[in-house]
Amino acid sequence: MEERSPGGGSDARGRTARATGTRARAAAAPLLALSEIARAPVSRLQTGIGEFDRVLGGGLVPGSLVLLGGSPGIGKSTLTNMALGNLAGAGHKTLYVSGEESAEQVRLRAERLSPSALEVPVLAETDLDAVLDAISSHAPSVCVIDSVQTLRCGELSGAPGSVGQVREVAARIMDLAKARSIAVVLVGHVTKDGALAGPRVLEHLVDCVLQFEGERERPYRELRALKNRFGSTNEAGLFEMRQGGLVEVLDASARFVAEATRAPGSVVLAAMEGSRPLLVEVQALVAPSELEQPRRVVSGLDRNRLALVLAILGRHGGVGVGGHDVFVNVVGGVRVDEPGVDLAIALAVASAARGVALKGSPCGCFGELGLTGELRWVGHPERRLAEAARHGLSGTIAPAGSGEQAREAATLRQALSLALSASRTRPASVAA
Ligand code: TYD
Ligand code: MG
Repeated sequence: MEERSPGGGSDARGRTARATGTRARAAAAPLLALSEIARAPVSRLQTGIGEFDRVLGGGLVPGSLVLLGGSPGIGKSTLTNMALGNLAGAGHKTLYVSGEESAEQVRLRAERLSPSALEVPVLAETDLDAVLDAISSHAPSVCVIDSVQTLRCGELSGAPGSVGQVREVAARIMDLAKARSIAVVLVGHVTKDGALAGPRVLEHLVDCVLQFEGERERPYRELRALKNRFGSTNEAGLFEMRQGGLVEVLDASARFVAEATRAPGSVVLAAMEGSRPLLVEVQALVAPSELEQPRRVVSGLDRNRLALVLAILGRHGGVGVGGHDVFVNVVGGVRVDEPGVDLAIALAVASAARGVALKGSPCGCFGELGLTGELRWVGHPERRLAEAARHGLSGTIAPAGSGEQAREAATLRQALSLALSASRTRPASVAA
């Protein structure tokens, strides 16, 4: 989809000319070593939502652009409304631009949140020039555009949300944000297949890409950084959607362990969410399939990871699940994206396949599986083990070298024999 810019695309050209001008000046100027370059202290605007600030790397950076993606209804507007409310309450100048909802609708949401959320000025507008004018004249320190797909640049043909429109809208807002040191959050909708449709083209342009995810029917919401020029991309924040808005979940491990079923197919993974340990329950169901190609269904995990672990389980663990549908789920709508999850998948599937609960359930574990069936060391074993111990899990199964507190296993086979005692194994429902 190509948009023409009548009038010769003055803006695109303007930017190119500026960029060329900069290059010409830089060539003439004396070159400086990096150590000689003045380092401007980065001042951050704290949103007052601890999990949000942590994922951002300490707060919003003036003059930076953050892209906040997520599926409709996940809570992007709620999160940004709350953040602006807190910032307004702390005396910062804010602006909320709504291209999707009327000002009345925004007010109705804000009423559910906090008194300070009602202090935020709102502009319900979809015309880009009108939005830019409002930002220029109001001069906020923080501005939310909800959403970037609804704004329209009149100089371009093409519907709002198209690639050309989204790119131009973001570029023009970025020019203004950088010139005026405004921290901008661009909200973007994600399509069903998980891609940030139009906004995806903005990923290279913006400073930070955040993804808000979770299952709509469940209360848990996870905020992750996919890109961050001002912080780590490993951090994740956990929230719960309640009546009065999003609430930070600070005791997630305790909740997930308390809710763990201890039934066959259940295991507790001691995961790392960035710099923070998190205990989550991983569940598996293995059932005879009527399909020629049995189902492999995951939620909260990478599908390819399941395929790999199943292959290793069959080849090196003696647990074959051919002819069976396999479902694996990280409970609570949390997503686990780290190699330590391999062992949890393997133990949950083996336990489900044999119809036997793991020994000492809830049983904790972590570790990466190698293609030859070895259990590989993963980062921060001491923090994972400490978190497990803190929540009453003893004898966590972990790779060799993890620490004294762990029940160490060098291979998948050893881990399986630690977790599933032979004496309690009922006749296998699946060929072993
Ligand atoms: P919203 O922030 O509008 O989602 P998005 O902007 O990502 O599309 O939030 C959507 C859902 O959150 C909506 O179904 C209502 C629910 N919600 C609550 O449960 N409690 C609240 O306090 C608020 C404001 C919303
Ligand atoms: Mg919204």
